[in-house]
Amino acid sequence: MAVRTAVIPAAGMGTRFLPATRATPKELLPIYDTPALQFVIDEAIAAGCDQVIVVTSRTKPSIENYVATASTDKVSVSVVYQDAPLGLGHAVGCARQAVGKDPFIVMLPDEIMGDASLTKQLVAQFEATGKSSIGLKRVAPAEVSSYGNVKVAGYSGGAESSVEILQVVEKPSSAEAVSDIVIIGRYVFAPTVFDKLDQVKPSANSEIQLTDALAMLAAERSLNGIVSDITRYDTGTPMGLLRAVIEIALQRKDIGAPLNAWLKEKFNK
Ligand code: UTP
Repeated sequence: MAVRTAVIPAAGMGTRFLPATRATPKELLPIYDTPALQFVIDEAIAAGCDQVIVVTSRTKPSIENYVATASTDKVSVSVVYQDAPLGLGHAVGCARQAVGKDPFIVMLPDEIMGDASLTKQLVAQFEATGKSSIGLKRVAPAEVSSYGNVKVAGYSGGAESSVEILQVVEKPSSAEAVSDIVIIGRYVFAPTVFDKLDQVKPSANSEIQLTDALAMLAAERSLNGIVSDITRYDTGTPMGLLRAVIEIALQRKDIGAPLNAWLKEKFNK
């Protein structure tokens, strides 16, 4: 079945970017001149979606204002609300009625990809198998504890490898890590994920974790993934945001050459 809907969770508190996020939600922080959210909407369109649902909070009216002007002839963009920041899994669950009974993509707007290739591959994997499919990447062992970590079968070691996911562990200690492969912010879900989210119990910090629903899917052997080496900017951290702004601006026709010249002059001194 074709995947035409994308859900973008954008109701978090953005505490890592305080005090900026008192004025502008994290998802609207500019990557040079374009809000991060727009990059993800454009990626959804490139991956074949014509409906985008942004999950937001009533405390972030500028997201709603942005969405009000984001629809085009290619895509309809709308909002649903998460009444309290009860976690990523809870945010995805808030989109249930708007999504309906079709498969859908979840895209985290604080991860910006170099292009839409991974999301397209996940859609193709979902369409071929009917099973939910998530983006993965290899990281240095010291970084595994910052992510959801997976044990997989079928990893070929190539630039893009389709795998079956056997086990999911949220932010493991180095002793608990099951591999050097971690979850990144692109997912294609069969609508059955909503039933799994209903079964997830709140974690110690009262959040409904998406990873817990992924662990249930993996335990049933209903979860696949693609280990990818796509360019990815983690704009949820200050360093990742700075890197995204500079690298993406360097690629732009209008500012790229003068920015490059300024950087060279600055660092050759
Ligand atoms: P993060 O955990 O990175 O976002 O969630 P955050 O909570 O806003 O960040 P910090 O830690 O306070 O700085 C990843 C994505 O999920 C959304 C966020 O808006 C972000 O886009 N999210 C997270 C929700 O929509 N609702 C939640 O309850 C939590």
